[in-house]
Amino acid sequence: MTELVVRRLLIDLAKPMAQHWCAGDPFRTALFNALSMSFPMGEQFFIDAVREAHQALPPDLQAHYAAEVRGFIGQEATHRRIHSLFNSHLEQRGLRNLWAVSIEKQRKLFVGQDPRHALAVTAANEHFTAMLAEWLLGHPEVLQGSEDRLQTLWLWHGAEEGEHKNTAFDLYRALGGNHEWRMVWFRRTTLVFLVDVTRQLASNLHRDRSLYRPGTWASAWRTLFGPAGLVRHTWRPWKDYLRRDFHPSDRVSPLSAQWLEHNRSRFALVGERS
Ligand SMILES: [Fe+2]
Ligand SMILES: [Fe+2]
Repeated sequence: MTELVVRRLLIDLAKPMAQHWCAGDPFRTALFNALSMSFPMGEQFFIDAVREAHQALPPDLQAHYAAEVRGFIGQEATHRRIHSLFNSHLEQRGLRNLWAVSIEKQRKLFVGQDPRHALAVTAANEHFTAMLAEWLLGHPEVLQGSEDRLQTLWLWHGAEEGEHKNTAFDLYRALGGNHEWRMVWFRRTTLVFLVDVTRQLASNLHRDRSLYRPGTWASAWRTLFGPAGLVRHTWRPWKDYLRRDFHPSDRVSPLSAQWLEHNRSRFALVGERS
């Protein structure tokens, strides 16, 4: 069982941010903006899936996972709130959140279904966020040159994603979820994620008038396929999830715990230790 605490980040997001807040780079700004736009709706989906799955467990397992589930929900709820604040600046700038609309449509498909389906989707997405987090924490230069409060926001979110990466997966197993359905939802979730992120990214760049600038594409290439590139560093962990004996904790990374340990002054602990 993973011990999870809820943290309140001590940053001020009321002040507006620069149009290209990520080190003046339109592509990286649009990519992080797109991800942020998915979080309030997406993380609500994860919270609902984990809560429903937890309630479906037999009483002894419910008791076993109660504290971890509380911690997971608390962390994701905090992420939702802070990204809603972040996104309000994007709305004011005229960006349109297409990803949230897509998630809302998908959410309706799971109402009344076996809770293991939404849970498998959640476990797949939690694997993606853990991969993204490891990439970001391992390559802090991606955010270098951005305002300190924004670097803190993204690294804190990444660190907590690393911290709670086992929860949805373990509940899926505890509920008797099998490998075959885990694969079905992982492949579907990958496809849906790629379509949604690409569409949101293109929309953000278009509204920002950066879509057809050569510099945008040069940055896209570096950010995705360069030596520190996202695709280059997440391809292998993506493939690992296909293994029958995969478990999120197989991938040991100290980066998440290290960031949380070294940045204690940037957050306050909420409530009791669960
Ligand atoms: Fe999160
Ligand atoms: Fe998460």
